[in-house]
Amino acid sequence: MKYFIATDHAGFAIKEKVKQMLHDLGHEVEDLGPDSAERVDYPDFAHKLARAVLAEEGSFGVLICGTGIGMSLAANKHEGIRAALCHDAYTAQMARAHNDANVLCFGERVVGLGVAESILKAWNETSFEGGRHANRVAKIEI
Ligand code: RB5
Repeated sequence: MKYFIATDHAGFAIKEKVKQMLHDLGHEVEDLGPDSAERVDYPDFAHKLARAVLAEEGSFGVLICGTGIGMSLAANKHEGIRAALCHDAYTAQMARAHNDANVLCFGERVVGLGVAESILKAWNETSFEGGRHANRVAKIEI
């Protein structure tokens, strides 16, 4: 599976470790920045990643900022992006199973490395259930 990843300065410290976790799970990862911990504006990176995910069918995105909130708000402005802010393995599992989320967001200031790893594993192991959830997901777009 192809993953794009981007952060802001508040998610930068964990980025290389998250990339390694994705590699260990067998995925290809493309880093869309930033390249340093210098202060940046999270919407710039959320929009860049959303466009990349939309351009490559079947790909996923991972966005990390301080809380994950700003990244998810910005990414969800793009039609076709379902960005889910996940705090633990359960929310990650449900984001895939029920919401067919294609962008995973979390906060470096909220979750530690161990929780981040369990989030990625749950996301990775879970497929969209479809069925009644497909109709609901279709209703998200207005
Ligand atoms: C940066 O200080 C912080 O506001 C940002 O990383 C994020 O948490 C916004 O939602």
